[in-house]
Amino acid sequence: MNKKKLAAYFSCSGVTKAAAESLASAAGADLFEIRPETPYTDADLNWNDSKARSTIEMNDPSSRPAIAEMMQNMDEYDIVFIGFPIWWYVAPTIINTFLESYDFSGKKIILFATSGGSGFGKTVEKLRVSCPNSTEIIEGKLMNGKYTTKDLVSWIESLEL
Ligand SMILES: Cc1cc2nc3c(=O)[nH]c(=O)nc-3n(C[C@H](O)[C@H](O)[C@H](O)COP(=O)(O)O)c2cc1C
Repeated sequence: MNKKKLAAYFSCSGVTKAAAESLASAAGADLFEIRPETPYTDADLNWNDSKARSTIEMNDPSSRPAIAEMMQNMDEYDIVFIGFPIWWYVAPTIINTFLESYDFSGKKIILFATSGGSGFGKTVEKLRVSCPNSTEIIEGKLMNGKYTTKDLVSWIESLEL
């Protein structure tokens, strides 16, 4: 059976968006942007400011920033790629919001991320609690730098989805 794939992503400055577009095209996945109800301003993203919105959210394990719109057809997908920028060594808490918004029963989740250099750290651990019914949630790919379609296709094949 041909499994239906989704590539959902959150991106503030466009880097993860570009990665998501390349991945979706290589994987034959539909794209969905996880758009915050309240967009992040430059000031919100200033990690040097202890009072910035992103700092406050990332210091609060219960933070669940609201998402502007829900997907209506999540049921159709078997494989869900989820992409985001690494914030403070893990996924932004809006990814927890996304995971808690749907039933991931029977679905496999593969993460991808962009960063200034950090890896996934404890990302999987922090996200697994938000999708307890998913078949699996795996680290996937840190997509810093350039990838050719060929690189991405061979990575996706290696996942044996
Ligand atoms: C609030 C905040 C925290 C960040 N924390 C990290 C970090 O811990 N490690 C890292 O390598 N990069 C960090 N970055 C850099 C982003 O992960 C990187 O610029 C990413 O590619 C941005 O993706 P985007 O354009 O899709 O938003 C952080 C950026 C922001 C705004």
